[in-house]
Amino acid sequence: MPALRIQGYVIVSADGMLANADRVMPDALKFEGDKQFFTAALDRADLIVHGRNSYEDQPNSPRRRRIVLTRTIGSIAPDPENPKAVRWNPTGATFEAALDFAGVNSGTVAIIGGPDVFGMFMDRYDTFWLSQAPRVRLPDGEPCFPGVPQHSPQEILAAQGLRAGDRKILDAADDVSVTPWRRAIASRP
Ligand SMILES: NC(=O)c1ccc[n+]([C@@H]2O[C@H](COP(=O)([O-])OP(=O)(O)OC[C@H]3O[C@@H](n4cnc5c(N)ncnc54)[C@H](OP(=O)(O)O)[C@@H]3O)[C@@H](O)[C@H]2O)c1
Repeated sequence: MPALRIQGYVIVSADGMLANADRVMPDALKFEGDKQFFTAALDRADLIVHGRNSYEDQPNSPRRRRIVLTRTIGSIAPDPENPKAVRWNPTGATFEAALDFAGVNSGTVAIIGGPDVFGMFMDRYDTFWLSQAPRVRLPDGEPCFPGVPQHSPQEILAAQGLRAGDRKILDAADDVSVTPWRRAIASRP
């Protein structure tokens, strides 16, 4: 799929969590600077991919084409509640088949969670945008990726061949930042 760019987005607490112990993203993990960054990125994306509980809930959400993962169907089906959405069960159909069904064959795909969905695409990201809130801790929370907290989110991205670029501050008061983790391009011999 060379015509597609796969990008991941998450904001995590200092202990690598994307939600609290109730599997809910708490207000403590919501920051205006990160919200603006995330909103602008999704406005540029051609397709959003997420699990059934990870919608972004923004004013432009109804305009965005999306694929929603669910085990309530066998393979691929239209979403009866959203004409812009396709439901997909990866057990029954490939991602390429879901893309065809959604009518997207080029452009930028934004993967926005949850943890299992991030994990599924781990070997396919061109860039993973890791936002961090270092002053927030979510004990017993929901880890952002499979393998956290045994490994840090950064260790997991690095193990997939992604390399950290320059960190950008999104909210100076709380030291919230985003770091792009980009796939290293193999150099020619
Ligand atoms: N901090 C952040 O940046 C961030 C990012 C993303 C999410 N979150 C938050 O984290 C929480 C994530 O919720 P969650 O753990 O329930 O994850 P989720 O991936 O949003 O939703 C889980 C559901 O998605 C479907 N699903 C996931 N993987 C699947 C697979 N491989 N095959 C088929 N269906 C699959 C299933 O739906 P069915 O039950 O319909 O089968 C599953 O019950 C939410 O509170 C969300 O707001 C935070």
